[in-house]
Amino acid sequence: MISIKMQSAIDDQVNAEIWSAYLYLSMASYFESKSLRGFANWMKIQWQEEVTHAIKFFDYVHSRGGKVSLKPISEVQLDWANPVAVFIDTLEHEQHVTQLINNLANIAVEEKDHATNSMLQWFISEQIEEEANAEQIITQLKMIGDNGYGLLMLDKELATRVFVDSTKGPVQ
Ligand SMILES: [Fe+2]
Ligand SMILES: [Fe+2]
Repeated sequence: MISIKMQSAIDDQVNAEIWSAYLYLSMASYFESKSLRGFANWMKIQWQEEVTHAIKFFDYVHSRGGKVSLKPISEVQLDWANPVAVFIDTLEHEQHVTQLINNLANIAVEEKDHATNSMLQWFISEQIEEEANAEQIITQLKMIGDNGYGLLMLDKELATRVFVDSTKGPVQ
């Protein structure tokens, strides 16, 4: 059985993951409106990934005899100045999520909840990848600068990203 403190912290994380999904869907909408469909594709895959993160926490709580309490989802930003601003926000958001995951791991250690700590290791590794992905795209967008052709080339590359449900296996 999961402790009330751990359960409540994971409830907040389910909300944070769904909020992340909503944020990325908003970013996808921004890119669709700019006819950058490859970037929009990348963001829609982020959206799908965040939903699988929420479900991983959701299923975990129920597997430990708990019950998730869903909370309201806050509003998300709707517009950005340019593509690089979107990815700077993405990186800052993922850095924030890394802090949330680390905080959950701290609670698991305090509560001597080894099962939750073990489950969280997947998320700790996943966050490394999330931050690295955003950083890489920021670097590329900075290289591109105002070059429209470069932007279209990156858009074509991001169009090739496909969704893989990595919550079912180890992070690479
Ligand atoms: Fe996530
Ligand atoms: Fe994420």
